[in-house]
Amino acid sequence: MADMKNPVLVVGATGMLGTEVVALLKQRGRQVVEAVWPGDDDPEHHDLDITITENVEKLLEQVTPAVVINCSAYTNVDSAEEEEELATAVNGTGVGNLARASKKMNSLLVHVSTDYVFDGRGQSPYQTDTPTHPQSAYGRSKLSGEEAIQSIGGRWIIVRTSWLFGRMGKNFIDTILNLARQRPELKVVNDQRGCPTYATDLARCLIDLADKDAQGLFHFCNGPACTWYDFAQEAVELKGIDCRINPCSTDEFPRPAPRPAYSVMDCSKTFEQLGWQSQTWMQALRNYLDTD
Ligand SMILES: NC(=O)c1ccc[n+]([C@@H]2O[C@H](COP(=O)([O-])OP(=O)(O)OC[C@H]3O[C@@H](n4cnc5c(N)ncnc54)[C@H](OP(=O)(O)O)[C@@H]3O)[C@@H](O)[C@H]2O)c1
Repeated sequence: MADMKNPVLVVGATGMLGTEVVALLKQRGRQVVEAVWPGDDDPEHHDLDITITENVEKLLEQVTPAVVINCSAYTNVDSAEEEEELATAVNGTGVGNLARASKKMNSLLVHVSTDYVFDGRGQSPYQTDTPTHPQSAYGRSKLSGEEAIQSIGGRWIIVRTSWLFGRMGKNFIDTILNLARQRPELKVVNDQRGCPTYATDLARCLIDLADKDAQGLFHFCNGPACTWYDFAQEAVELKGIDCRINPCSTDEFPRPAPRPAYSVMDCSKTFEQLGWQSQTWMQALRNYLDTD
């Protein structure tokens, strides 16, 4: 980070990604200010609902951050179908509030977006300039956040990611392992392709891009592409759980929000900028499950 005197403000500091970003910044000896919503009793935490414009402005004026890393979001893809207004208030308007306040304070805004901004019908990896066409309320709300940042301007980095897993919060791997321990067999979807992303690796990417004062739109995930079935199968094998994983189709698990069949993003521009490649998701999974 070009400016080491001013702190890094991490918004959504207690989420799956936010926790890793805070941990890595502290490990690197950076001065960190943590904003969370809903607020809690931790004296190190500042309450911040990003949908409240004046509170966003006030906190940024008080903190004068060199960098704002936004890990907060409305992330429930299925509930967003019923609550699109709320999802858009957080993922669109709230992100716009952060962008405006960051621009005013000349802070670098690092924001995280999603593969759901694409239509999910691609056949080759999406580039950062592949036209967007979200198919779900969540995808539309996240795209409105990207658009808000780009139209407000200032200094910004947007990193799109996919299939996030990490130590905090609910994730696919924990759900599969819990079910696999209870049942002799499980069905897992085998017709959606994407790339899992380890929150620890994404945290490093965000901080390193900020350190390099990068600007613009990036993609980051752990390759290679796989299906949810492949991902589940690997986790169950690594843990040595005696449960048969059977492939099934998306149609067998109807959900309120449509799921993209193809979510693979090209990350080469990001790796070039970072000067390092992400580890494979299999290696990341071994780190996560501590089975190295
Ligand atoms: N998880 C994935 O698979 C995935 C995939 C692609 C992209 N992403 C993106 O990656 C980023 C990090 O995701 P994550 O999985 O770490 O999310 P997460 O664990 O759900 O954390 C998001 C945090 O934001 C908070 N939040 C919600 N509304 C807020 C508001 N109005 N003001 C301030 N904070 C608010 C949440 O609080 P509550 O928990 O109380 O709601 C939560 O602490 C997000 O931008 C997400 O869209 C995630």
